[in-house]
Amino acid sequence: MNDTFETLNLQAPLLNALKDMGFTHPTPIQKKAFSVVLSGRDVIGIAQTGTGKTFAYLLPILRQLKFSKEKDPRVLIIVPTRELVVQLVSEIGKLSAYMDLRVAGVYGGTNINTQAKMVAQGLDVLVATPGRLLDLVFIRALLLKSVRQLVIDEVDEILNLGFRAQLNSLLDLLPRKRQNLLFSATMTEEVDELIHVFFNGPQLIEVTRAGTPLEKIRQSAYRVPNFNTKLNLLEHLLAHDESMEKVLIFGATKRMADRIHAFLETKFPDQFSATHSNKSQNFRIQAVEKFQDGTLRGLVATDLLARGLDVTDVTHVINVDTPDTPENYIHRIGRTGRADTEGAAITFIAESELEYLSHIETLMEKTIPLLPLPDDSVISTVLTEEEREALYSGKNYMKAPTLLHSSGAFHEKKDKNKKVNLGNATKYRREMKYKKPIKRKPKKKG
Ligand code: CDP
Ligand code: MG
Repeated sequence: MNDTFETLNLQAPLLNALKDMGFTHPTPIQKKAFSVVLSGRDVIGIAQTGTGKTFAYLLPILRQLKFSKEKDPRVLIIVPTRELVVQLVSEIGKLSAYMDLRVAGVYGGTNINTQAKMVAQGLDVLVATPGRLLDLVFIRALLLKSVRQLVIDEVDEILNLGFRAQLNSLLDLLPRKRQNLLFSATMTEEVDELIHVFFNGPQLIEVTRAGTPLEKIRQSAYRVPNFNTKLNLLEHLLAHDESMEKVLIFGATKRMADRIHAFLETKFPDQFSATHSNKSQNFRIQAVEKFQDGTLRGLVATDLLARGLDVTDVTHVINVDTPDTPENYIHRIGRTGRADTEGAAITFIAESELEYLSHIETLMEKTIPLLPLPDDSVISTVLTEEEREALYSGKNYMKAPTLLHSSGAFHEKKDKNKKVNLGNATKYRREMKYKKPIKRKPKKKG
């Protein structure tokens, strides 16, 4: 249990680098994976979010990588997003501080010629997103013939993003004789298939069952009738809970992320930013940096940031939408409670999202405690365009609370209630408390 990194048979440069970073003990996945990766076998490593999967593959890879003047990369690491390329290159830089190692990262959205020149200088380890990697190969700026070790990190997300064809082409281009390494907190059928086709008798190293959330992430949820009420609740939580110091806020779409941010800007000017795939490359990298270094109190993002991102001490993850796949939920909440820290994850659930909740709870084998809406949070009856459309088309029905009788409106409203129509707030809260409608809707007939 108390094994230190010294027992892993690492050479001095790696041990010194780990010491500089303040790490003394390997995590369970790092301990378990080390010798198996060294043995040269293909490996599938499954462990929870934030438990050190990155070093679980980097340590044995760097342990056995010999100094070489060879121009073409011998280690290739494929990740889904540019943010992860940047993060990984930086981690490898720290870990190889006392080694003579050439590492580079390539990703789309930047000048390909600059990157072609960079890789032409020769490198040992290449970190890449699939699309740009293929482009570099196609323009013959990069040869993959020397790759002996391939790591695919967050593979299910690579597939989710529609990179399947690219990944297949890449795997076909790589030398047959190579070691394949795959690390994840979740598994999907698609990933299983890919492993079946491209991996060679892989050894499964499972610290916890795929899809297990971290116990130290305090999970909770609110049932909220509509998007505008979600915004009000978000404001309420941020205004009342001082422990919300470093908050990662997720929205389902770029548009939703922008709207959440626009709203927060009016309530908490300059404390939040929003990032997603429509933002410029520089903006994206800087947004994460400003969130990391505490310049920002919070960052609003799409699922772009749900994967792999290792920002220190995120206190809260807030899901304004309920993720439509349980894997995304696990990864989103996994941005908090990393390494030795604790964290909280709060999810806002509209009626139409209840089915997602049940998928999430099934995967986790755990229920998320529902909290009653705070007494003084403001319930809005104003629906967004999307919610109105859904309402009229009958699909993805998002329930709006029925309006109060006008008889109660003669006396002066309290200040905080003036701006918004409260709707049937009391009834709604009572329903939420008992987790079911007071008056049942008739069941839909087939
Ligand atoms: O990939 P995964 O979600 O499992 O986690 P990660 O991105 O590798 O992040 C693990 C965090 O724990 C990073 O902040 C590491 O610096 C830190 N850490 C570690 O990886 N290994 C240790 N032995 C101690 C800390
Ligand atoms: Mg990771």
